[in-house]
Amino acid sequence: MYDFSADMIDCATAIEVALGNQLSAAQLSGPGPAAKRLVAAMRYGSLNGGKRLRPLLVRQAAAIFQVPANQTLTAGLAVEMVHCYSLIHDDLPAMDDDDLRRGRPTVHKAYDEATAILAGDALLTQAFALLAEPQCHPDPVVRIALVTELAKGSGGGGMVGGQMRDIEGEQDIFSGDDISAMQAMKTGALIRASVRMGAILGGADARGLAVLTAYAEAAGRAFQLADDILDVTTSAAAMGKATGKDADMGKQTLVNILGIDGARQHLSNTVAAALSALRTFGPKADGLRATARYFASRES
Ligand code: IPE
Ligand code: IPE
Ligand code: MG
Ligand code: MG
Ligand code: MG
Repeated sequence: MYDFSADMIDCATAIEVALGNQLSAAQLSGPGPAAKRLVAAMRYGSLNGGKRLRPLLVRQAAAIFQVPANQTLTAGLAVEMVHCYSLIHDDLPAMDDDDLRRGRPTVHKAYDEATAILAGDALLTQAFALLAEPQCHPDPVVRIALVTELAKGSGGGGMVGGQMRDIEGEQDIFSGDDISAMQAMKTGALIRASVRMGAILGGADARGLAVLTAYAEAAGRAFQLADDILDVTTSAAAMGKATGKDADMGKQTLVNILGIDGARQHLSNTVAAALSALRTFGPKADGLRATARYFASRES
């Protein structure tokens, strides 16, 4: 029987240890030594917190193809570094202007804005360095496919593009479809990349990749829908980040359009869509199934 909470804890622990090892002055040094303050801010923004859901998706997608969890660690680490960078920048005064993240002051509060920007930049860069290393996968063709996948998911047509639309949405009038399209990019794209990177590690064929992509796109929609609902219904203490902020900032979310009950119904339909995409897979996809359900039931 698949045990979701054991899998989640095991993944989070492995990622925490690996991040602790990777984010060191020795590992980060290039032609020059990595700056101490930069390394400290990168560690602060990455360690001791975070549900580590994206590395979990990498390992669960790869598990369908019998890839052992430890062989997905480097790819998961790279996605998590991009995610941590995206949060550090998302919280900056020029973006969402948040003071609290994962129950602690945000990186620009604990350090300063310039350090937060640079810590994000360095996490992003290091993520791609990791994917290029042979420990990620012995076959360079696979490594290049992973680099491309993460770049597409995190760049202008993915997460960063979605963040741009999110900011434009503070001024523009968005339809429900506009909001969905923006969310598919700002949050969905990295979730989609995580699942597809797991599939790539597993050597999925085109059909398997298409099915897993359909799952990931629905799961990504569910994830941001839950985030937007929780922003309205939950406390900062539970979330470890400010709540009630989307309305304050004039953020466009589906909760504005559908109302809380409508948004909850839509969330449950979206999870059902994610699960139905997996119907061709047997129990090997139970991890992905449990995570989609967790996306809707999570309380933090
Ligand atoms: C928060 O993501 C940001 C969004 C994309 C909504 P998570 O809820 O996965 O954040 P952590 O990593 O667990 O803190
Ligand atoms: C952030 O969305 C998505 C990314 C960081 C790319 P939100 O702005 O809703 O995330 P939270 O609520 O601050 O975690
Ligand atoms: Mg934001
Ligand atoms: Mg934010
Ligand atoms: Mg939010």
